Amino acid sequence: MTEIQAREELARLARILREANTAYHGADAPVMTDADFDRLKRRNAEIEAAFPALKRADSPTNQIGAAPTDGFGKITHAVPMLSLGNVFDGADVFDFDARIRRYLGLGDEGIAYTAEPKIDGLGLSLRYEGGVLVHAATRGDGETGENVTENARTISDIPHQIDGAPDVLEVRGEVYMSHADFAALNTGIEATNRDRQQAGQRALPTFSNPRNAAAGSLRQLDATITRNRPLRFFAYAWGELSAPLAETQMQAVCRLAEFGFATNDLTTLCEGPEAMISQYRRIEDQRATLGYDIDGVVYKVDRLDFQTRLGFRATTPRWAVAHKFPAETAWTWLDAIDIQVGRTGALSPVARLAPVTVGGVVVSNATLHNEDYIAGRDSKGAEIRDGKDIRVGDRVQVYRAGDVIPKVADVDLSKRPAGALPYVFPEICPECGSAAVREEGDAVRYCTGGLICPAQAKENLRHFVSRKAFDIEGLGAKQVEMFFDDADLPIRQPADIFTLETRDAGNLARLKNRHGWGAQSAENLFAAIRERRQIALARLIFALGIRHVGEVAAKDLSLHYGDWNALVLAVDRARPAAQAHRAADEAEERERQAAAREDRRARIKETRDAAIAPLDVPHEAMEAWADLIGIDGIGATVGLSLSDALANEDERAAIDALVAHLDIQAPAAPAQASPVAGKTVVFTGKLEKMTRDEAKARAESLGAKVSGSVSKKTDILVAGPGAGSKAKKAAELGVVTIDEDAWLALIEGL
Ligand code: IVH
Repeated sequence: MTEIQAREELARLARILREANTAYHGADAPVMTDADFDRLKRRNAEIEAAFPALKRADSPTNQIGAAPTDGFGKITHAVPMLSLGNVFDGADVFDFDARIRRYLGLGDEGIAYTAEPKIDGLGLSLRYEGGVLVHAATRGDGETGENVTENARTISDIPHQIDGAPDVLEVRGEVYMSHADFAALNTGIEATNRDRQQAGQRALPTFSNPRNAAAGSLRQLDATITRNRPLRFFAYAWGELSAPLAETQMQAVCRLAEFGFATNDLTTLCEGPEAMISQYRRIEDQRATLGYDIDGVVYKVDRLDFQTRLGFRATTPRWAVAHKFPAETAWTWLDAIDIQVGRTGALSPVARLAPVTVGGVVVSNATLHNEDYIAGRDSKGAEIRDGKDIRVGDRVQVYRAGDVIPKVADVDLSKRPAGALPYVFPEICPECGSAAVREEGDAVRYCTGGLICPAQAKENLRHFVSRKAFDIEGLGAKQVEMFFDDADLPIRQPADIFTLETRDAGNLARLKNRHGWGAQSAENLFAAIRERRQIALARLIFALGIRHVGEVAAKDLSLHYGDWNALVLAVDRARPAAQAHRAADEAEERERQAAAREDRRARIKETRDAAIAPLDVPHEAMEAWADLIGIDGIGATVGLSLSDALANEDERAAIDALVAHLDIQAPAAPAQASPVAGKTVVFTGKLEKMTRDEAKARAESLGAKVSGSVSKKTDILVAGPGAGSKAKKAAELGVVTIDEDAWLALIEGL
């Protein structure tokens, strides 16, 4: 090999390996097998060894198996990037408006909203300081995104410098690709593939839709690739600001346009729900001819002072909502029904379909929900699809709404193959052979194998390391699955992750000597794990994967208890009340059934049982239970599930083992030091300046805990006119009692 050939070959290998790496780790599909990848990497190393002077700055040798997405630095958003709640029809839009007016206490007075297309791209936050673009970050998990500044600078809709802007200005909007540019990009890839084929190279994947193309292009480590991809940007919101932009949403968007941003010209001001729905229809009518993908219409309260008062729930603003376009459908064949076992042990039937395009996306898997759904019944036993069941071999209709998992919606009986048999739902877990049971009143059948079920354990681990949970760099779903089956270094439960390094040190087959690993990549993994011993309480709670405890509930619990031990203590203390609650619920269910059977005697017995169940519960348990299910957003379902999880011996042992390795971080105190942070507040009587909901949300956003009942733990009682027993109890207990004005003075005197 001559020097010139070597140089060329190193350049070619660097490019191919980079692309393969991106395809493997990024949003796209792998383009080569691991063995081919390793072979090319070895060839690259051999040439580098022969021509050390030719080693490139971007040499694949320096990539230590890390995902290229990890190559972007992280940026913590000064103001979190939230998502939007959804509404699906006109009635929901009226509800949204009514909820907002109720919250603000406006009575019949109407308010104005903006309506604008919901762009189907990916969110981006641009930070300008002194008018200069200083960085750009993707949404990420909403709190931390990837630093894609260099790539954002290549987008022509994004100004590098702006005049007349506040000193600190974060502009938020959507990066997207037009239909025409998307088609041209794929045509280009196809042309390249013809050359590659001739050169004996593997084909590069084309993009399945403009959104993926935009995401793949923005998240390129090499900004020159991004530069050649025609990305666009619409500005529609903002994050941190050193000075307000305007008084209304509409004016603020106009200012963004004055700064030189592209804003969407279908944004209009609407005087109320009727006008919003008309604008939704107008936008829907134009959808096909806009030249870019949109998936709904976003409504935002126009007055920014109202937006501030309305504030946010855990992950969505109260003052905005997305009105999604209806789903799209297509017909195809049902090839098979597989059962997947989830982390909670739920057996979920998955339809394997002959691939079909539904609204621009190729679908080959869809959910069948549960066994009743397949049989043509809903959870109450009533017929759905006119009672038509679904069988393997059927012609079925697939339904896809936005980014939700597609589902099988309907079946065409006229096309049913002769001899197709009704589907029999398994009663044993296909993964571990344990009994799969379905409890009375539950639509779902659960594997009873618990942690012995490998599917559950694996899913649990996958969830544990997922982005919104522990998010350990270099330890994704694929890697935990690999370690799960590892003979020398198994990870069977979360605690095993944190003993990985010490266990490895005692092994003969050290990780660093294994295929696909090296000293550096093993050390990187251990370092990433060590770093995650410090974990936010909310992330930990979410990561445990307890049924019904999602991200939002985890945040609510974290804010309320502020401390892991306090949470566990409260749940343990509340358990007798939780059990009584369940007993009463079950008795009520039996009572309903007795009533349906017209069995009077049984009915009387169950009514009595339902009433008696809570009676012999200690007061302390009732209080802890009331406190738990009284948290905004937490109800009895979450409470029961938490109680069960912590009462299950195996699960508790696994959690305790994990927690022993962690340094759990209390939730951050609210940004401003607030005189009510950490205080327990009770509102009673009539409030005149704000609604109860607003009072509660504001108190919580200042770090206070709002409780429904007065106890020794109450710090402040805010009593309006008509306050009764709570005020009396507060007086007895010596709790500070103030009126609404004093409360406002307290929190506004910040
Ligand atoms: S407003 C606090 N407006 O939709 C609310 N979002 O599903 C900020 N999106 O994360 C978002 N078009 O990436 C807003 N006109 C629009 C939008 C829009 C698209 C995206 C955005 C957001 C996601 C929520």
